[in-house]
Amino acid sequence: MKINFQETTKDLQVRIDIHNQFGGKNIDAWMLDLLKLEKGTKILDVACGAGKQIISFYEALDGECKITGGDVSQELLDQARVETAKRNMKSVEIIELDFNKPFPIEDNQFDLVSCCFAIYYAQDIPFTIKEIHRVLKPGGRLFTTGPMPENKKLFYDVIREATNNKPIPPMPGSSRYNFEIRQTIEKLFTKNEVNVFVNPLTFSNAAPFLAYTRASLSEDRKLWKEFFSGEDDFETVMAKIGKAAEKRAQQDGQLVMEKVVGGFVATK
Ligand SMILES: C[S@@+](CC[C@H](N)C(=O)[O-])C[C@H]1O[C@@H](n2cnc3c(N)ncnc32)[C@H](O)[C@@H]1O
Repeated sequence: MKINFQETTKDLQVRIDIHNQFGGKNIDAWMLDLLKLEKGTKILDVACGAGKQIISFYEALDGECKITGGDVSQELLDQARVETAKRNMKSVEIIELDFNKPFPIEDNQFDLVSCCFAIYYAQDIPFTIKEIHRVLKPGGRLFTTGPMPENKKLFYDVIREATNNKPIPPMPGSSRYNFEIRQTIEKLFTKNEVNVFVNPLTFSNAAPFLAYTRASLSEDRKLWKEFFSGEDDFETVMAKIGKAAEKRAQQDGQLVMEKVVGGFVATK
């Protein structure tokens, strides 16, 4: 399945900042608690983006680890290089890696392969998961995160209300993560643990909810392209979403959008 998707540094950072500011819980703390990493671990972070998970792993292990981060976006790779250099992170290598192609890595190399909020953009899920499996050492673990079907109910409810139930394009994350991706992992790996992280983002007014919505629906990301008939339509729809969100915020005193994220930990 060809998925038209591109992440930009700006849209990704806006969403990360909103989670940090309005989320009740910290997803990286949850991830580290699940994984209980040991010093000396060799990690590959597939679709590393601007390096969020790389930084968490590295800091949790006081730098006593070897981490390779790979992504297809040059813009995000540059950002990951800047962020890791700023923190003087030695033993981190950032490489170009397209998960739709054979990884430029030999077999049986890593104790952990992580792939956070990205695997559902793969064209051929079994291919990408086989590549991850191939580069893991025997007994090594895969950690992935992605949206569960109940994720962000408020976000979709407000968009539906604002657009008189205009059909929402199928989102690769919620349509694939707990189904095709989970099944493929469970076929190939010896075991898979399914964990769920629920994080309410609480907004006292509509503004940050709208900023989040804009960074999700943004034309640059291409995912929602077919929902709009051009730039003017994008702004018209955003204005309607703004009105619907404000009405709800006034009625309820706040807006609560629950992130419901699956974290699969699979062992080779
Ligand atoms: C939502 S971001 C997540 C980034 C990072 N893991 C995080 O949680 O901040 C999705 C990432 O998938 C990457 N991506 C999309 N298609 C890819 C591909 N074919 N190969 C490698 N990475 C890809 C994007 O460039 C982007 O960095």
